[in-house]
Amino acid sequence: MAHESTYQPTSGFARWLDSRLPIPRLVHDQFVVFPAPRNLNYLWTFGAILSFLLVAQIATGIVLAMHYQPTTADAFNSIEKIMRDVNWGWLLRYAHAVGASMFFLAAYIHMFRGLYYGSYKAPREILWILGCLIFLLMIATAFMGYSLVWGQMSFWAVTVITNLFSSLDSVIPGFGTMLVQWIWGGFSVGEPTLNRLFSLHYLFPFIIAGVVVLHVWALHIPGSNNPTGVDVKTSSDTLSFHPYFTIKDGFAAVMFFILFAGLVFYAPNYLGHSDNYIPADPLVTPAHIVPEWYFLPFYAILRAIPDKLMGVIAMFASIAVLFVIPWLDTSRIRSVSYRPIFKWFFWLFIISCIALGYLGAQVAEGWYVFFSRVFTAYYFAFFLLVMPIVGLIEKPKRLPGSITESVLGPQASSAPVAKPPKDSSVDAMPGGAVAAAAAEGRA
Ligand code: HEM
Repeated sequence: MAHESTYQPTSGFARWLDSRLPIPRLVHDQFVVFPAPRNLNYLWTFGAILSFLLVAQIATGIVLAMHYQPTTADAFNSIEKIMRDVNWGWLLRYAHAVGASMFFLAAYIHMFRGLYYGSYKAPREILWILGCLIFLLMIATAFMGYSLVWGQMSFWAVTVITNLFSSLDSVIPGFGTMLVQWIWGGFSVGEPTLNRLFSLHYLFPFIIAGVVVLHVWALHIPGSNNPTGVDVKTSSDTLSFHPYFTIKDGFAAVMFFILFAGLVFYAPNYLGHSDNYIPADPLVTPAHIVPEWYFLPFYAILRAIPDKLMGVIAMFASIAVLFVIPWLDTSRIRSVSYRPIFKWFFWLFIISCIALGYLGAQVAEGWYVFFSRVFTAYYFAFFLLVMPIVGLIEKPKRLPGSITESVLGPQASSAPVAKPPKDSSVDAMPGGAVAAAAAEGRA
């Protein structure tokens, strides 16, 4: 939320710096006194958790890269060397591999939170689109990182996914094959492919970090949405970011870290595939090639469609559609909590995503294919039909008059002013009276 700067440099050096490169002012205004809705729940802590995970992935990745060899002869062995011979190498490698899963877990929670509370709606469309861009970059980064292990699953995942581009041969004969060979840097997945995957896997997280800066910038113009979806009206609707949300984000990050550490220390390979401990062999195709769990719903969509090109288009469309959600949703209000009809479709959508995740890990035969088609159809119908139509016909429930009212109850806005206003900009507003009354335990 654009607000007047309240930063006061307290030393000579701070004054000197403030007129040259006012970073302390930026931090003070955007992360200390920044007004955040007072009713934010724990789902709003995942942005901070994601920021922490991004830093952790970059830090562990940089040290891993010091020991990794991006050659087809040594890649697999260099990872085993990291695990066995490098001091704390096992911890670095498991933290990075499990960290990727944690990153997607947190990102999916963060995205479903945005979907549920309508955080993509005006004025936050660009914030949402930047989030979608981050998601796309995350997918590319994780895919490239997984290939670096150069185990059987790595090698065959690269082979399957890069080969998807050959489906373009059915549009322009020869073009798909040319594109795939350009990506490979040869006539099959090999050393040049591994080299470029390594180079780009190192580069992309820094691009993600850059887009995250834009993402948070775009967030700080309108400010955060909140569980009611009602706009901030008075300053009593907000609390300063520090200490209220630094402590809440910090607590949630510690809880999340316990889950993360539990997996790293007790079940580091639980989310991975055992075949990736077999060195890559271009002459032996694994019986079932499956991606990591976080790609399974998209993989199910790819395989649900019998035609290769159409399957590829559907898979890319399932991500592309996220970018235009702000314009597909016709509802006047944001939060699903106040949308009695859409609510059912929303939970059905969550069930569909989980079902597609399950189906993506099964063999593409019989009933599995049938249900993959049913849930793929619903995935698209949710965005392309439900969102535009239900928004027009649904009568939303009554919204709270303000964020403060949603916290303190309807009587809050009619509570008498308890004290003479200290700060006219705050207490002269009706919500200020509520806050003062609440402080006295009367509201
Ligand atoms: C590296 C990944 C990401 C990082 C570090 C990140 C960071 C953040 C942070 C710090 C916030 C503010 C706190 C919060 O609301 O949780 C935020 C808000 C938001 N993010 Fe992200 N984000 C990431 C990915 C995404 C993705 C993939 C999407 C959606 C496709 C997304 C959509 C949003 C939206 C809509 C908000 C505003 C939420 C609201 O105010 O209700 N973000 N993000």
